[in-house]
Amino acid sequence: MKILVTDKIADEAIELLKKEGMDVTFKEMEHDELLENIRRYDALIVRSRTKVTSDIIENAENLKVIGRAGIGVDNIDIETASKHGIKVVNAPTGATISVAELAIAHMLSLSRHLTIADSTMKQGRWEKKKLKGVELHGKTLGLVGCGNIGRKTAELAKAFNMKIIGYDPFLSKEDLEKYGIEKIDELKDLMSKADYISLHLPHTRETHHLINAEMLENMKPTAYIINCARGGIIDEDALYDVLKDKKIAGAALDVFEKEPPVDNPLFSLENLVATPHLGASTIEGQIRAGTVCAEQVIKTLKGETPDYWVNRKLMEK
Ligand code: 3PG
Repeated sequence: MKILVTDKIADEAIELLKKEGMDVTFKEMEHDELLENIRRYDALIVRSRTKVTSDIIENAENLKVIGRAGIGVDNIDIETASKHGIKVVNAPTGATISVAELAIAHMLSLSRHLTIADSTMKQGRWEKKKLKGVELHGKTLGLVGCGNIGRKTAELAKAFNMKIIGYDPFLSKEDLEKYGIEKIDELKDLMSKADYISLHLPHTRETHHLINAEMLENMKPTAYIINCARGGIIDEDALYDVLKDKKIAGAALDVFEKEPPVDNPLFSLENLVATPHLGASTIEGQIRAGTVCAEQVIKTLKGETPDYWVNRKLMEK
């Protein structure tokens, strides 16, 4: 079976595929090259860089499965894949720890102005007085989305003696209590109560610009917002306005509406910290995400039912 991998995945995952006798090609293709070549492959493995659009899927005569070596599948046209009988599988557990650790890292970095401290030091400036920070200790962390990553973030935040509140319409008060998270029913209430807000939910039609001007205006002037989930959940124009007018203390974004961002006005602001979608980019996270995804692809190609079959409902209806 021929497998095309168009984004960098862990060597361990490639080895696993080869051990199963798969013929693996790794090449970071752009849209047109992928469109031209996809018909030769039985499986395609991607991360978030490759956009698996409907025209690519329609050209994929031999494709049986699309593997996402990670969690988010918003870069794959699931509906078209389902219509063509192509299974979409992912690795939902691989990067949980890595993303949660990055969210905490951003919270600490914002609180202690680490990025500004570093850049001013390198410019020969000693800004000790200007860079007084705040502690996480005793503050309230508001989680928007309390799935695997949100809950892991809560677990880590507890080591800093933070109080954790969470907004998640899919989980009950009792579910969240088990993880030491107090359920908040209305998002705007979470926005106004939290000192740190961290987003851990997918980007869908329903969550697009969930964090809009009105929500951001509800935040405390001393509060920070962190997005290591997906671009498009925060309205970037609205975020620009509240940061520019210093209506909130700061924000850290690992994800953007357009990736890589081009001429993004947010980058002119000192109270915005940016990282290039690094959430899952750790050695450990990539080994887990890559090998779990490879296992799913192998199972599918062998005619077995994959454990993480994203479009199962659409294909079985
Ligand atoms: C994910 O959805 O798994 C993360 O956002 C990581 O995406 P990446 O694999 O493109 O780094």
